[in-house]
Amino acid sequence: MCSPEQFRVDYAINPWMNVGSVNSDLAQKQWHELRDAYVSLGAEVTVIDADESLPDMVFAADQGIFRDKKVVLSRFRYAQRRGESVFYAKWFEDHGYEVLHLPPEIFLEGGGESWWLGDTLLLGRGYRTSEAAAHVVENFLGKRVVSLQLIDERFYHLDTCLFVLNATTVFYYPPALSDDARETLKKMVPNVFELTEKEALSFAANSVVVDKTVVVHKGNESFEKKLHELEMKTISIDVSEFLKSGGGIHCLTAMIL
Ligand code: ARG
Repeated sequence: MCSPEQFRVDYAINPWMNVGSVNSDLAQKQWHELRDAYVSLGAEVTVIDADESLPDMVFAADQGIFRDKKVVLSRFRYAQRRGESVFYAKWFEDHGYEVLHLPPEIFLEGGGESWWLGDTLLLGRGYRTSEAAAHVVENFLGKRVVSLQLIDERFYHLDTCLFVLNATTVFYYPPALSDDARETLKKMVPNVFELTEKEALSFAANSVVVDKTVVVHKGNESFEKKLHELEMKTISIDVSEFLKSGGGIHCLTAMIL
């Protein structure tokens, strides 16, 4: 995770962003509650310091795609976020990761745009990530990459409209994905559950699994109920201040495998 002190909405690069709208004290309190929840679930949490000039740096998920001590470093679509990569690249290098830097013509927004489904990577494209990124990631990580096209700008990152519970179970909001992407998912995943628009808009997809518990944004009771039916536990944390930037629980969390 990345410390929340510098989190603000200073510019608008997605439809959720409302400049100047964040209550910084409340955002910090919410972030600490999320971190404490992970710790209480037994997850190990590492925190990187945020740079003052980078108000979106708190969204740690977006920084890269990790596997087996290798990371494909993100290359952000918008110039406002590109500076974040310098700090995260240093962290990865300092922690012994082999880091792939993408060529300037390829954009990729890391864990915000992807989920591991077992050994296969689901990778979104359309708003932030280039189609050509899939091949580069596949070659570097040596894992199969399945590219899914996003078509609703409110759901500009894959982790805003699709949630992987485990290697055989996925939740997603169908109108956010192209026909091809929907067909691909149904063919490759045994259990595919649909999210309603209301669930999708309250960032149900943007959840994090820690063992048998799913950490979800507050106000997602119907989604929590579906998870309980699948024998999962849930914890809900209010991350309302981060939604004002188009980010939620999963965006705040880089899941290092
Ligand atoms: N304001 C940030 C952006 O538009 C939010 C990023 C949210 N991250 C995510 N994984 N969906 O880039």
